[in-house]
Amino acid sequence: MGVWLNRLWLGWLPATDHNILLRYPVRQRVRDLLFLVDPYKDFRFCGDKVDLRGWNGDSPVLRNLIRKLRPELVVEVGSWKGQSAVTLARELSAQNLVGSELVCVDTWLGSVEFWRERDHEDGYGSLNFIHGYPSVYYTFLNNIFGESLHQIVTPFPATSWVAWKWFTERGLQADLIYIDASHEYEEVFSDIKRWSKILKPDGLIVGDDYNLSWPGVIRAYEEACDANVIARAGVVEEKWIGRKVIRRS
Ligand SMILES: C[S@@+](CC[C@H](N)C(=O)[O-])C[C@H]1O[C@@H](n2cnc3c(N)ncnc32)[C@H](O)[C@@H]1O
Repeated sequence: MGVWLNRLWLGWLPATDHNILLRYPVRQRVRDLLFLVDPYKDFRFCGDKVDLRGWNGDSPVLRNLIRKLRPELVVEVGSWKGQSAVTLARELSAQNLVGSELVCVDTWLGSVEFWRERDHEDGYGSLNFIHGYPSVYYTFLNNIFGESLHQIVTPFPATSWVAWKWFTERGLQADLIYIDASHEYEEVFSDIKRWSKILKPDGLIVGDDYNLSWPGVIRAYEEACDANVIARAGVVEEKWIGRKVIRRS
């Protein structure tokens, strides 16, 4: 039976992944597919550098979604220092969802608004440049490690498009997808369109900042619902929510 299960899985994946799957016949963690060396291996935690400031990432809506869906795989697109990731992962842990994984997709290079104002401490300032290159990824790792959530949270340092393509090519599907990356209309619309395709049939796609400060977010969600890209599931405390549209060919 195990051999047959492996054969079924193996058909979906490139040859290089076969050995990994043979070790994990039931459910493969995304982390093992992404990395040859665990990102937290030999990580040096620094208590002084814990900084979980963010924007509305501790919302009860995120906790309720975990309770409702009891997801195996959650993808967050836009993690920054990890405030929302910590909220989601803490709830996965609180619900005893052993083996569930939260994959955090981010370039850790900032959205356009981070680059607009150089005197903005929580935007540009928090990029934390080293020789001109942002280092906020290490703040994220430090925060996750400090919360002892490193078994649950897997970083995927890539653009939204690259990560989406990777998930698509592997046929991986998520129960819950949280979109909080770019807040520009074109990019939010693309994120909704692309990432909703990798939702499980009964999964939910959710996004942050449905409010007047972010007209691009409102427009992208409304147009995506009107065009039947996703099925409208409502807006709760500035989080827009959608369901996958099942297309019959
Ligand atoms: C608003 S912050 C995320 C906040 C986070 N969810 C929290 O609770 O604190 C947006 C993040 O999206 C990332 N981002 C923006 N555009 C992206 C893209 N196209 N691909 C990957 N990450 C992106 C930025 O680097 C930034 O870290």
